Amino acid sequence: MSDDETVEEYLFKIVIIGDSAVGKSNLLSRFARNEFNAHSKATIGVEFQTQSVEIDGKEVKAQIWDTAGQERFRAVTSAYYRGAFGALLVYDISRRATFDNVARWLDELNLSDFHLFAFLLKYNQKTKAHSDTTVARMLVGNKCDLENTREVSLDEGKSLAESEGLFFIETSALDSTNVWTAFEIVIREIY
Ligand code: GTP
Ligand code: MG
Repeated sequence: MSDDETVEEYLFKIVIIGDSAVGKSNLLSRFARNEFNAHSKATIGVEFQTQSVEIDGKEVKAQIWDTAGQERFRAVTSAYYRGAFGALLVYDISRRATFDNVARWLDELNLSDFHLFAFLLKYNQKTKAHSDTTVARMLVGNKCDLENTREVSLDEGKSLAESEGLFFIETSALDSTNVWTAFEIVIREIY
C-alpha cells in the first residue's frame, strides 16, 4: 500500500467573523499558538493560518481565516466566506452593540454562497446524503473574563443561538476559557 492510500487528510476552511475588537484575532492566536496580545492591532483585510487537530485518531487540518471586523473592509472580507465549511461568529459579552450586530453578520453569511459551497464540498467529500446541517456555525460570546462589565447575559446568547440554529459558547482568549473547545466543536461537526 502506498502512502497515498494509507494517509487520509482533511482540510477544512473556517472563517471567523464579527465586529471589530471582539477578539477574533486573539481567539485564533490562542488556539493556534497559545498566544494572547493585549495590544493587538485591527486586522487589515484577511489573514489565515493552518492548524492541525487530531480528531478520532485522524489528522484534520483547519485553515482558519481571520477577517477584519472594521466596516471599511466588509466588501473584501465577505468574498472570503466562499468555500468555508464552518464559521465562528464572534461578539464581545461586554459590548452590547457587538451582540446586536450578530444579525447583520448572519445575513451576510447567508447572502454569500457559503451554504452552497459548503454543501457541494461536503457532498463531494463524503458522497452521501447530506444532513440538514450543511455547515457548522458557532455563535461565540468572547471576553467572558470581563464578568464585571458584562452587557450580554449567557441566556441571551443561548437563546439567540437557538433561534438561529447555531452552536453557542462563551470564551475568553485572555484566560483561554473554551477557546480550544469552540474550534473543536466546529471542526468535529464538519469533519
Ligand atoms: P478586528 O481585527 O479589528 O476585527 O478586531 P478583532 O476582533 O480581531 O479583535 P482583537 O483580537 O484584535 O482584540 C481586540 C482587543 O480585545 C485587544 O485589545 C485584545 O487584547 C482584547 N481581547 C481579545 N480577546 C479578549 C478576551 O477574551 N478578554 C479580554 N479581556 N480582552 C480580549
Ligand atoms: Mg483582528
